[in-house]
Amino acid sequence: MQTLTARGASVLVTDLDEAAGRAVADEAVAAGGSAVFAPGDVRDSASWATWRDLALERFDAVHVLVNNAGVFGEETILSVTRAGWQRTIGVNLKGSFLGIKTFAPVIRDAGGGAIVNVSSAAGLDQNPDPAYTASKWGVRGLTKMASQEFGPWGIRVNSIHPGYVLTAMTDFASAAMRAAKIEMTPMKRAGEAWEAAELVAFLVSDAAGFINGAEIAIDGGWTSGSQATEARRFR
Ligand SMILES: NC(=O)c1ccc[n+]([C@@H]2O[C@H](COP(=O)([O-])OP(=O)(O)OC[C@H]3O[C@@H](n4cnc5c(N)ncnc54)[C@H](O)[C@@H]3O)[C@@H](O)[C@H]2O)c1
Repeated sequence: MQTLTARGASVLVTDLDEAAGRAVADEAVAAGGSAVFAPGDVRDSASWATWRDLALERFDAVHVLVNNAGVFGEETILSVTRAGWQRTIGVNLKGSFLGIKTFAPVIRDAGGGAIVNVSSAAGLDQNPDPAYTASKWGVRGLTKMASQEFGPWGIRVNSIHPGYVLTAMTDFASAAMRAAKIEMTPMKRAGEAWEAAELVAFLVSDAAGFINGAEIAIDGGWTSGSQATEARRFR
């Protein structure tokens, strides 16, 4: 997020986790940036209405939306519960949908801008969790559709597809799982959050002015090279 405030953006940070979200906004302000925090749940259209009203009150105009909230469950098709399925689809897919639905008209009224949807390498390929995989494919499809609907309004909509990135979401992994994920990555390392942030900052900038409806992997080659990496083991 500081990648955006450091470039002069004023950012409304939102999160279900108040302490974590407030800390992100406070850190940006301490570094001289412009940021405010408002709690809420991306599954809830009332939260989106509150965020829209607050953003317009604080910033007058909104040009950018980044749909980044996400959850991951360790389930299989046979073990996933109805509640688990609904939580993951609700946060990852419905949350992104409600964000686009709420903010596209606001961005249009501001004269245009950009939306970035954070999908996953799982949205290009798969991942052991069925709801996560389905939600991230859904986000990718929603991005394509939104790019068509809102391109004429001067709003570009793109998805990014991170591979294995070191964050709170991946913190639970065992040493063996981390090693396996790094081994599957041709660059032989995990990604870092700032690298994904740099891609977001580029996509919302004027330098990306003709990029619309694109799906951009940021995965060290994971999704383009997994078969080749596997085959190389047997050479
Ligand atoms: N870390 C990775 O390896 C990786 C890989 C591919 C994609 N992604 C995606 O990147 C995005 C960011 O994930 P991260 O790795 O930083 O994980 P993270 O767990 O650190 O961040 C996710 C954030 O979403 C918030 N959140 C969860 N449910 C919410 C809700 N209902 N309403 C509002 N906020 C909610 C959480 O509180 C958390 O702060 C996610 O969409 C994730 O699926 C991450």
